[in-house]
Amino acid sequence: MTLNDFDLVLFGGSGDLAMRKLLPALYARDVAKDLPPQSRIICVARHAWDQQQFIDSVNATSKPHIKPGALNAKAWDKFCQRIVYVAFDGTDAASYQPLVDVLRPEPALTRVFYLATPPHLFAQICHNLAARGLATSNSRVVLEKPLGRDLASAKQINAEVGEVFAESQIYRIDHYLGKETVQNLLALRFGNILFEPLWRREWISDVQITIAEEIGVGNRMGYYDTSGALRDMLQNHLLQLLCIVAMEPPTSIAPDAVRDEKLQVLRSLKKFTPTTLAQNVVRGQYRAGYVKGEAVASYRDEQEVGQHSRTETYVALKAEIDSWRWAGVPFYLRTGKRMTDSLAEIVVRFKSIPHSIFTQPVGSFAPNCLVIRLQPDEGLRMNLMAKTPGDGMRLKPAELELDFRESFKTPRMEAYERLLLDILRGQLTLFMRGDELEAAWEWVEPILDYWEQQESTPLPYAAGSWGPAAASALIGRDGLQWREEALPED
Ligand code: BG6
Repeated sequence: MTLNDFDLVLFGGSGDLAMRKLLPALYARDVAKDLPPQSRIICVARHAWDQQQFIDSVNATSKPHIKPGALNAKAWDKFCQRIVYVAFDGTDAASYQPLVDVLRPEPALTRVFYLATPPHLFAQICHNLAARGLATSNSRVVLEKPLGRDLASAKQINAEVGEVFAESQIYRIDHYLGKETVQNLLALRFGNILFEPLWRREWISDVQITIAEEIGVGNRMGYYDTSGALRDMLQNHLLQLLCIVAMEPPTSIAPDAVRDEKLQVLRSLKKFTPTTLAQNVVRGQYRAGYVKGEAVASYRDEQEVGQHSRTETYVALKAEIDSWRWAGVPFYLRTGKRMTDSLAEIVVRFKSIPHSIFTQPVGSFAPNCLVIRLQPDEGLRMNLMAKTPGDGMRLKPAELELDFRESFKTPRMEAYERLLLDILRGQLTLFMRGDELEAAWEWVEPILDYWEQQESTPLPYAAGSWGPAAASALIGRDGLQWREEALPED
C-alpha cells in the first residue's frame, strides 16, 4: 500500500530514541522506496541550532545506528534533505510559530505528531497543538512509553490526550508488537488449522514467556531507577505477548477485533492478593558478576543509583487466566537485565502422553513443546518424540525447526520500521488501545503497591546468571523448570 505524502513531526527530535531508532528506521524505509518524495520529517527540539547544525548532529549520532551494509552516501544525503529542524519549546504555546510556518496545510497530507518525550509533557504538547490549530481531525499522535507509572497516571495520560485526539487518532507504541515473530505468532495460530484445537487447557500444560537481556541499563539510569523491570518490561512487552498467545480468535485482523480480544485476556488475569503475591512473584536486583566473560558492576554501583536502591532489575511471576480456555494453565513470565544470555522466547508446553504403548515408561517421553523464538534468531521449534534409527523401538526427543531467516530470504524489517509504516498508513492493529493500557496497569498495580509497602528489598542475583534462585523455586513448586534449566547440558 503506497503512502500519502506526510509531515511527520518528531517531538524529542534530538533525543536518544529519535537518533538511535526512529531516524534509522525511516532511512531504511526511504531506501526501500516506501517514503513518498514530498514527505518530510520535522524534528523538534529546544537546542538553538540551525538546520546545518542539526544535520551535523544527525550525522554524528544517528548515522552510526544504520544497519551495517545499508548505508549509502547518496541515499543518506537524500534522506537528510527530508529532515527539517525546528527549534522551539513544545511546552510553551507561545513558541509554536516556527512549527505553524513549516507545516503544510493541505488536507490530503498525512500529519503525524510523534511524542518521543517524557510522558509528563504529552498533555501540554497536545493542548498546545490544539490551541495553535495544528491538531486537525485527520492528524495522528504517537505516544512512546513509559505510558504512565501506575493506573492513575495512565488514566490521566489517556484523559488528557483524549481531550485533543480521538481514540482512532492515538497510536500507543509497544515496539514488541512490531517484531516479526510476534506477527508470526498470529500467523501460526490463525493461519493454520493445526494448533487451534490444541490451544487450550485440555492439551497445554503451561506457557513460559522470557525476555532476558545481557545488557544493563546503559545511560538511562535516571529513568530506570524510578521504574524497574515490572514497569519497564512486564506491564507492557510481556503482557502484550501473553495476550497474543492467549487471546480468542479475533473475527479479523481489524484493529478493534484484535484489541477487543487482547483486552479480554487482560481482564481475565487472576488478580493477585498479598498472599498469592508473596508466593507467585519474585523480584531481583543484579550484583557484580560476569556477563559473557566480562566483569560487570553491581546495579547499586552504577552511576546515579544509590547503595539502598530497591529497584528490581529482574521479575518473574506466575500468572493465571480465569477463562474456560485457560483455567488452571500457569503462564510463567520473567524478564531481567544482566542475564546469562539475550533472548526472547515463548515456550508452549503440551501435556504428557496418557499411556505408553512402548517398553519406555510414560515419564521418559519429553512432552511436546512449541518454542517461538523472537530474538536473537527468529523461528519456531517443535519438540517431538521420534524413533531412533536402527533395530528396536527406542524413542528420543527430536526437533522440527523453522528458521525464518533461512526460509524467507526477504530483507528483515526492524520493529520500528514496521510500526512507523503502520502509523503513516493509519493502521492501528499493532498499537495499544487506551482501555488495554489501563487494564494492564490495573493488573500489575497490586504488585507495585505490595512492594511499596514491604520493608524487603529485591533478591540479589549475580550478573551473568539466570536470576535469583527463588525464580527456579517458583516454577519448581509446580514440578517444572525454566526451559534453559530443563535442556540437556551440551
Ligand atoms: C524497552 C525497555 O522498552 O525495551 C528497555 O525500556 C529494553 O529497557 C528494551 O532494553 C528491549 O527491547 P529489545 O527490542 O531490544 O528486546
